[in-house]
Amino acid sequence: MSDEIIGVIGGGIMGSGIAQVCALAGLSVVLVDISEAALAKARVSIDRSLGRQVDKGTLTEQQRAAALGRISTSIDYASLSNASLVIEAASENLDLKLRILKQVSEQVSAEAIIASNTSSLSISQLASQVQRPERFIGLHFFNPVAVMTLVEVIRGLATTDVFHARTLAFAERIGKTAISTGNRPGFVVNRILVPMLNEAIFTLQEGLATAEDIDIGMQLGCGQPMGPLALADLVGLDTLLAILESFQQGFGDPKYRPPPLLRELVAAGRLGRKSGHGFYRYS
Ligand code: CAA
Ligand code: NAD
Repeated sequence: MSDEIIGVIGGGIMGSGIAQVCALAGLSVVLVDISEAALAKARVSIDRSLGRQVDKGTLTEQQRAAALGRISTSIDYASLSNASLVIEAASENLDLKLRILKQVSEQVSAEAIIASNTSSLSISQLASQVQRPERFIGLHFFNPVAVMTLVEVIRGLATTDVFHARTLAFAERIGKTAISTGNRPGFVVNRILVPMLNEAIFTLQEGLATAEDIDIGMQLGCGQPMGPLALADLVGLDTLLAILESFQQGFGDPKYRPPPLLRELVAAGRLGRKSGHGFYRYS
């Protein structure tokens, strides 16, 4: 077991998955969120995901317990002071991330890497609130983190080679395959994927087919493991809307305008799997 400590900010869909993967790699994790309730929810999510791996026989109960034991939780950013790497995975909101990253950089050592799991926001802009921005980098995981082996590593204008190399080594350490991308909205994968999800919602909004048939169409016609509307529900409709608005603002291209239907669903609290109802209902 390593004495290295990884900080994760935000125990939602992604932060809980990132904490799980780091703990399974033998690293100690400090998971920070805004409330004990959010942290308790994260623990349940992590335990459930580990349980799937035990049920599959790819993890023993001892390994499951050991991984859970390596994750501590806190609502206090001071708990991050000994972290060698902190990954911010809070909601996709620029002002929120800037505030969080400023707080983090006031707590950690000068040599600690600070990373954001942002889906679309500028790494160079997020670095603007970080003390020693040369150690700030994009480290973009994919959902579900326990299953998707890719991470995108994105340098900001200030990121130096040494911190880029350390981040690549960390990704390998936790069993991920990294691609390095430029700092443009959505980086590479979301730049390609998100417009497809957007068009699926427009297709539904225009009444061209039912949600089920749109998803069946992409699964049986294109071999996608899940349809675009189910995937949007998995990602979170609030997160998808934030990404599209980031694209529209970053590229200034109206082709990224979010569909009114997506705005309506988010405004109505229908966020997908995470709220129990998006395009589909979830138990
Ligand atoms: N934790 C642990 N294991 C999980 C899991 C989780 N949360 N979810 C699924 N799995 C495992 C299952 O145990 C199962 O393992 P085996 O194949 O070894 O039995 C496997 O993954 C498949 O899961 P299921 O059989 O339950 O369901 P499925 O076959 O439909 O797969 C899925 C589920 C892995 C999500 C698959 O549908 C899929 O790959 N969908 C596409 C996901 C995708 O595109 N992700 C990227 C989104 S974009 C993004 O993340 C970036 C961003 O910024 C928004
Ligand atoms: P989520 O809504 O599931 O979780 C966000 C978490 O952030 C919540 O637990 C919330 O309590 C916490 N949070 C909010 N303010 C905070 C603060 N001030 N300090 C600490 N925690 C705070 O969101 P998510 O889907 O996990 O997305 C998180 C980030 O990861 C976003 O930037 C998103 O774009 C990115 N991302 C999402 C996906 C996806 O498919 N959902 C994939 C890759 C990257």
